[in-house]
Amino acid sequence: MESKTGLDLKFRNTADYAAYLDEEDPLKGFRDKFYIPIVKGKEAVYLTGNSLGLQPKATQDYILNELEDWANYGVEGHEHARNPWLTYHEMFPDVLTDIVGALPEEIVVMNQLTVNLHLLMISFYRPTKERFKIICEAKAFPSDQYAIHSQVTLHGYDPEKTIIEIAPREGEHNIRTEDILETIREHGAETALVLFGGVNYYSGQVFDMKTITEAAQQAGAYCGFDLAHAAGNVSIKLHDWNVDFACWCSYKYLNSGPGGVSGAFIHQRHIADKSIPRLAGWWGHDKASRFKMGNVFDPIPTAEGWQLSNAPVLSMAAHKASLDIFKEAGMENLIKKGAALNGYMMYLLDEINKQQPDKIIEIITPRNESEKGCQVSMLMLKDGKKIFDALIRAGVIADWREPNVIRVAPVPLYNSFSDVYRFGEIISAVIG
Ligand SMILES: Cc1ncc(COP(=O)(O)O)c(C=O)c1O
Repeated sequence: MESKTGLDLKFRNTADYAAYLDEEDPLKGFRDKFYIPIVKGKEAVYLTGNSLGLQPKATQDYILNELEDWANYGVEGHEHARNPWLTYHEMFPDVLTDIVGALPEEIVVMNQLTVNLHLLMISFYRPTKERFKIICEAKAFPSDQYAIHSQVTLHGYDPEKTIIEIAPREGEHNIRTEDILETIREHGAETALVLFGGVNYYSGQVFDMKTITEAAQQAGAYCGFDLAHAAGNVSIKLHDWNVDFACWCSYKYLNSGPGGVSGAFIHQRHIADKSIPRLAGWWGHDKASRFKMGNVFDPIPTAEGWQLSNAPVLSMAAHKASLDIFKEAGMENLIKKGAALNGYMMYLLDEINKQQPDKIIEIITPRNESEKGCQVSMLMLKDGKKIFDALIRAGVIADWREPNVIRVAPVPLYNSFSDVYRFGEIISAVIG
């Protein structure tokens, strides 16, 4: 198999082979930069970086530095901290450009994901009598569904007639791009916004963001993405794909801690457009006159113009600790290794299925490399919850999504091929 790693990977189901892949892995040193949870005295097989990324060992120091500067300087830390708090958030766009494929001025780190989704919808969901629909994926993450629903009702529209959801076809688990395009064609003239996840949280399907954006914009709609499961996981080129807006969280693949600060993208062609409606706050106001304490909002002509509040520095310190590791590792290298880990996981699960008289695991994540990242979603055809509970008891940290899916995500910064092999061994023993 020719993999994105550039290695000719003819996978084998042996511990030696997994150890060989680890030895060959140019990113192998990065695992040591993270705390791996311990279960029953042993390193866990941690496969939930798609839910909460692990803690970099450096994070404590990054946060302690800010606590020290706060202790030493008090309010003066806004200007005199080692990383002055007044401009703390300005350190992020440079690193995030590679992660989301954007220009620095198109990126801002602020708030949390659902908040950013709302702020961006205030700007880019502006329904009119003729154009009011939102096209989205069926069974999007609940917070996105609630956000969409509430925005629609906020504008006085009926969600039943306004939200157009696209589901996989009967008997399928993934949404076909052709069905997305067909829906956009059908509802295009009445559509104000196409809003999708970059990666579906349940199936792990990566959507064709470029094609969806093109189709949405051709129909005269704006196009935005929730990149919660995509940022730090798959290749993203928001600027080149001409995406109107996007947002993501930092606590999954970006390892910035529970409830970590979120990121937002607004395309270059919109950032200086002061006529775009937005909810305003002082941190989005022109920096030169921010402290003049005036009463007329003058937005910064970059994505920063969407900020409301001053930077949550302690949470951002954790973000910085992780992004500095991303910078060192390089997003392209991480994507290559992620693809290889995912390929190995799928191979081992296929081997396990072959050993069973009746298939027990159905992989619902697409096989096609362009449609998957690290995550593998396993639809359990029998005894799903029992198998999941046994995995947890055996030292695997994975997650369960109702009604019957186990999600595992071997992530390239800290998971090894041996982790994936151990998972294969454990699930094989559990299934019997
Ligand atoms: C796809 C998606 N959207 C939104 C959210 C909600 O994020 P937050 O709690 O940061 O608003 C999540 C959380 O996991 C998510 O996976």
